[in-house]
Amino acid sequence: MHFVSGSTPRVGYIHRLICPRIVVMSSRSSLYLTTPIFYVNDAPHIGHAYTEVASDVLVRWSRQCGADTWFLTGTDEHGQKILRTASANGVAPKEWADKLVAESWKPLLDLINISNDDFIRTTDERHETGVQKFLQKLYDDGHIYDGEFEALYCVGCEEFKPKSEIVDGSGAFEGEKVCKIHSKPLELLQEKNYFFKMSAFQDRLLKLYEERPDFVQPASARNEVIAFVQQGLEDLSISRTSFDWGIPIPWNSSHVTYVWFDALLNYLTAAGYGNDPEKLERLWPATHIVGKDILRFHAVIWPAMLMAAGLSVPEHVYAHGWLLVGGEKMSKSKLTGIAPNEITDTFGADAFRYYFMRAINFGQDGSFSWEDLRARYHAELANGFGNLVSRTIGMNNKYFGGVKPEQGELLAADTAIVDLVASAAAKAEEQMLKFQIHEAIASIWEIVDALNGYITEQEPWVLAKQEEQLPRLGTVLATVTEGLRALAVLLHPVMPDATEKLWIALGADQAIGALADQTIAEAATWNQLPAGTELQPLPVLFPRIEEEA
Ligand code: MSP
Repeated sequence: MHFVSGSTPRVGYIHRLICPRIVVMSSRSSLYLTTPIFYVNDAPHIGHAYTEVASDVLVRWSRQCGADTWFLTGTDEHGQKILRTASANGVAPKEWADKLVAESWKPLLDLINISNDDFIRTTDERHETGVQKFLQKLYDDGHIYDGEFEALYCVGCEEFKPKSEIVDGSGAFEGEKVCKIHSKPLELLQEKNYFFKMSAFQDRLLKLYEERPDFVQPASARNEVIAFVQQGLEDLSISRTSFDWGIPIPWNSSHVTYVWFDALLNYLTAAGYGNDPEKLERLWPATHIVGKDILRFHAVIWPAMLMAAGLSVPEHVYAHGWLLVGGEKMSKSKLTGIAPNEITDTFGADAFRYYFMRAINFGQDGSFSWEDLRARYHAELANGFGNLVSRTIGMNNKYFGGVKPEQGELLAADTAIVDLVASAAAKAEEQMLKFQIHEAIASIWEIVDALNGYITEQEPWVLAKQEEQLPRLGTVLATVTEGLRALAVLLHPVMPDATEKLWIALGADQAIGALADQTIAEAATWNQLPAGTELQPLPVLFPRIEEEA
């Protein structure tokens, strides 16, 4: 990623000179981050929420690094998949989309605390006019021609499938060709279509992957994309005539735009393409977070489309793995989808966010299990973090009348904590820049473990029994309290609610300022919370969950 750490946006090159600790990957100090836009054929499951949370953590982290951020999410509403679902439910597709957006997709963002700046729907007028402008430009510039086509189509993927993703069906679909991802029969389509001359961009794409090794990440995704393009690119069918739920092709309204060509353009139309050139100039190019199933669209088709239009390709495309159930991608169509509120109703949004970001290596597949969620919730959140917070505030209340005590002379054990907080924060910064969210959280958690170990070793309850040890007791509790302040800042992008409660309980909002304004770069700077700051009542951060939950 290309954001710059620090309290104000700075130019990467200069910043690197004055602050060598921070890795800056581009000269821009802004971040325009996107999630994929979600199909509205059904309500979200935790796989969709996973993409949203990961993107949100990256954006919130970058904001606290001082980057100028813009965070986009939205819905993908055209195409056969939505049309068929709406028809099966006896309503018009727009009516169906309106209902799903209002009742399921927008509420998901509140449910898991997503801090998006904009929400685009492909049925928005700003999008439809932008798509038509883009198409017209490509047509006028000779990148589009008409032809005839026959191929196997997967409505689940909304894609003519490449040979590598066509497999023999089994069970009810024995003898049929099915999609490798959806395990459902493919449909043979034969139509007159318009085509985008994508094959013409093969060499430029290979050069892009070569010259910018961090364009597609992680490395496994990059290798897959390169191998795919090296096999040879075909031209892309970009219109359909057999149904009309889509954006009309501007020069021939008997065709509608292919749903993926339409959907990818959301990243431009939301950023002002076609109506606000200044906004576009400020935001573009974007960094895209996508699931690995839609990597090819973002790392091959999308940059080729942008090249044809004479626009910059994205900054990065990062493909994460899948949440698996029984070894397969969790999906509603396979009836393995779990609704996000099944988890948040019991564990809360913070635990949801923490669990998926911590337990699954970002970039790889991971299996969800209720047992693992429950075990981590209790061990890491309730006992590890929650208990650390409540006993520290409790001891400050009990021994110092609810104020942060004075820090006296630091002993080796205390400076070890100060140093560990600094090194953990620096490691987390580097790991987030490489999209290694799970590693960054593990680094921050070293602070939780170290503070718990420090309390056990320093035995403040023993010091409290000896009057002459009062200054030492103050130093110990001041050290842990400062550690908690640093933890609130570093964990805020992951657990916005719990850290806000902690921040208020520390009296830090009054003494220092709003939590969201605290920078990652300054998180480890010691003694920010003045001695004498009055602490406030602490609500329970992670309540115990009954076994049957
Ligand atoms: N509409 C397209 C994207 C268009 S972007 C221009 C689409 N929509 S989707 O609703 O099917 O998927 C949206 C995102 O959710 C994708 O990144 C996909 O990988 C992700 N996930 C869907 N199921 C998932 C899991 N089981 N696990 C992790 N992510 C999953 O594709």
